[in-house]
Amino acid sequence: MIKTRITEFFGVEHPVVQGGLMWVATSQLTAAVANAGAMGFMTALSFGTADRLREEIRKCRDMTDKPFGINLTFLPTLTPPDYPGYIQVCVEEGIRFIETAGRNPEPYMPYLKEAGIKVIHKCTSVRHAIKAQKIGCDAVSIDGFECAGHPGEDDVTSLILIPLTADALTIPFVASGGFGDGRGLAGALALGADGINMGTRFVATKEAPVHGNVKQALVDHDELNTRLIMRTLRNSERVLLNEAAQNVLDIEAAGNASIDDIRHIVSGKVGLDMIREGDTEKGVLSTGQVMGLIRDVPSVAELIHRIVGDAESIIKRRLAAMAQA
Ligand SMILES: Cc1cc2nc3c(=O)[nH]c(=O)nc-3n(C[C@H](O)[C@H](O)[C@H](O)COP(=O)(O)O)c2cc1C
Repeated sequence: MIKTRITEFFGVEHPVVQGGLMWVATSQLTAAVANAGAMGFMTALSFGTADRLREEIRKCRDMTDKPFGINLTFLPTLTPPDYPGYIQVCVEEGIRFIETAGRNPEPYMPYLKEAGIKVIHKCTSVRHAIKAQKIGCDAVSIDGFECAGHPGEDDVTSLILIPLTADALTIPFVASGGFGDGRGLAGALALGADGINMGTRFVATKEAPVHGNVKQALVDHDELNTRLIMRTLRNSERVLLNEAAQNVLDIEAAGNASIDDIRHIVSGKVGLDMIREGDTEKGVLSTGQVMGLIRDVPSVAELIHRIVGDAESIIKRRLAAMAQA
């Protein structure tokens, strides 16, 4: 057992978090994470409407009596999704934890606080982590440059971000980006984090509602097979290097690309089709450099127990023996 401020904060057994995963973090995956003693977040935007989110929360409750939360990703769009509706459902359904990501959650903080909901904000820089603490977030998830999805534009890797965040914050935080095994967990704890958050690694698990071809692609590809798309739009996203990603890069390289030029490739609908139908060249899929460390498709429980068991043994045996020598 590894006890940290984050296991205490969430009331879970293991210092491992499954962050929001568009289309992937449904009740099937998140309940498996909760039942394995870790903390999972279902991604509200995957469900399209507040009522569908409510149904999914109830479904998840039917599958687990352990804690789980909801991810709210605040997108940089002119016509925002129904965030107030999602939050209202979370309050009504007794959700105790929300993972916010994307834009600053400040406008929603008073309402979340009043409802007694604890907020863990995911961000990609120390200055944003400090800001999150200042506006009343209860915990932070700090995403290094190697992460899947949106790493921000600063390009600072976990090895630097984690100790800097540890120096800057008093609230608990998890290290995110590049984690997939017990060595990563032990390393994150040594660098000052209270746990790890994983995305890509959870996509390659039995319970993830993802076509087998996509899971196998994560096993077959390595740390070199990601690309950053939408850099020119200052909305960088780390994705699997495939035909779709290459098409986006070609359009960007031609110059002056706008979101309208690539929308047909990066749209959520294309990504959903790819995840469900298994054509791994068809759409863009957020994946991290941690693909290099993914060699199998275990159950969620197998994965979490392996990671925590390996971290424990590294700390108790390898590191303890070195310190004594
Ligand atoms: C397929 C996929 C979809 C993701 N979708 C979201 C999302 O909707 N919202 C969000 O906050 N993060 C999202 N992420 C990012 C993860 O929550 C996590 O921060 C990231 O994957 C950590 O890096 P790692 O993949 O190296 O573990 C996604 C990641 C993946 C792999």
